[in-house]
Amino acid sequence: MEDFALSRKFLIRWNDYERLGKAGERLKLADKAITLRREETVKMKWRQQYHFMAPVGWMNDPNGLIVWENKYHLFYQFNPFSAKWGEMYWGHAVSNDMCKWEHLPTALAPSEAYDDWEKGGCFSGCAVENNGKLALIYTGTSFEDNKIRQVQCMAESRDGINFCKSPENPIISSYPGCASGDFRDPKVWKRGAFWYLVCGSGKDGKGMALLYKSSDLIHWEFINILAESDGTMGYMWECPDVFELDGQTVLMFSPMGAGEHQCMYLTGKLDYDSGRFHEHFRGDIDYGQDFYAAQSFSDLNGRRILFGWCNSWDWMPWFTDFGASQAEGWCGHLSVPREVKMTDSGELRFVPINELKSLRKRNWHIDAFVLKSEEEKKIVNAADGIHVEILLKINLEQSTAEKMILRFRKTPERIFKEAGMTEPGENHVTSLILDFEQKELYLDLQKSDGKKKGRCSADIRREEKYLDVRIFLDSCSAEVFADDYRIAMSANIFADEKDNEISISSMGGSTLVEQFDVWEIS
Ligand code: FRU
Repeated sequence: MEDFALSRKFLIRWNDYERLGKAGERLKLADKAITLRREETVKMKWRQQYHFMAPVGWMNDPNGLIVWENKYHLFYQFNPFSAKWGEMYWGHAVSNDMCKWEHLPTALAPSEAYDDWEKGGCFSGCAVENNGKLALIYTGTSFEDNKIRQVQCMAESRDGINFCKSPENPIISSYPGCASGDFRDPKVWKRGAFWYLVCGSGKDGKGMALLYKSSDLIHWEFINILAESDGTMGYMWECPDVFELDGQTVLMFSPMGAGEHQCMYLTGKLDYDSGRFHEHFRGDIDYGQDFYAAQSFSDLNGRRILFGWCNSWDWMPWFTDFGASQAEGWCGHLSVPREVKMTDSGELRFVPINELKSLRKRNWHIDAFVLKSEEEKKIVNAADGIHVEILLKINLEQSTAEKMILRFRKTPERIFKEAGMTEPGENHVTSLILDFEQKELYLDLQKSDGKKKGRCSADIRREEKYLDVRIFLDSCSAEVFADDYRIAMSANIFADEKDNEISISSMGGSTLVEQFDVWEIS
């Protein structure tokens, strides 16, 4: 993960700062902050081993995902100077496989009246290729006349490293009357001779996605409110994303104020003449506590891939804090890349990309076994119990249990006793509970790390014989996939290194486990 081949590119960059004017000065400071602190940051205890993170400081949303000159480029909301959110820059990284990333010099810095404010900056957006140039389209957030001002802007590059802001900025300078000044996160795509842009907004308590059209990426015409909340989907839609998949249109967005929903999708049909979206199906992209602001792109093989930011904002109901890594000078990581798949009913599946299998090292395989009622089986010595992928297959038909519980990041009893811990709360455990009767899957975070609260749940819909569960654990996170990848649940867990036990148990009857595999991942 921390593969810093960046010094060469940073050196090349050194000559370009002056050319980039005020933005260049800011970028120079940002890149200095990175070079100064990256080595000590790499050594920090909570650093993830295979999830994407910024080299130092704070990161949030994935931005500008694109294939450019046969490589994957990823930009992200970045504060290089602190582990807390602050004035936003765009970080930048490149990869051949979306699993191992190389950090590149910072791509965008706040520098102009329209994107320079201590509580604003270069907010989220996207990347497209236009006439041999890599164009970044983002929201400039500033403060004018005692008001927050959000406008859409563009920056372009020929070399894919140095970006110049367009003299035409802002390319969309005001919001239409039907929307409010919360007006951000443009996502652009091409269809025929035209570019289309969808942008997040809201009005009168209803979140919405706005549709624009352009022939040159500079002059934009407002078409319509593409879709809006029916009252149950939040008051402001952040990071909307629109794409075609298997003949249907998908609209994704991150609603603010939609209760437990933090990243949703609608599938249906976009009528380009009216600019309206006709919904057939709606669902959640992730049922966990730490997944937001997902962005998608079409990869080298035409697959639709998405990444999400794995954290929650302080306005979310379950928020406790941004996590223990802030004390180490960094915060934020992205989910594993997930391929979006369409089903006949219009429901989506989110499948970790196949390339992730190349990270698998040693394997622990256990053949089919029956867990008797109240029996707990420890999975002993499976790698370090922390940096692992777990795959298990439960036979639903031949299990009589009420519940199956998979425990991980658990304080081993031995350590618990040796340390003379007596207080409840000193030992940790995260439990994935399958309730056979209620057909529910829960991720119980109540005892995960002493900070985290609550539990996430999703219903199991499948009427099939088996239930597959796949889990990715890394230094401070868990991502659970189940029910044929209809369910994803992401949560950050800041448990200690010693909290590394994995076990499986059956309650109120027996559970037939057809397969149990653990891979070391690095
Ligand atoms: C989503 C978001 C976006 C905004 C960005 C600012 O997480 O709030 O709406 O552009 O983060 O960093």
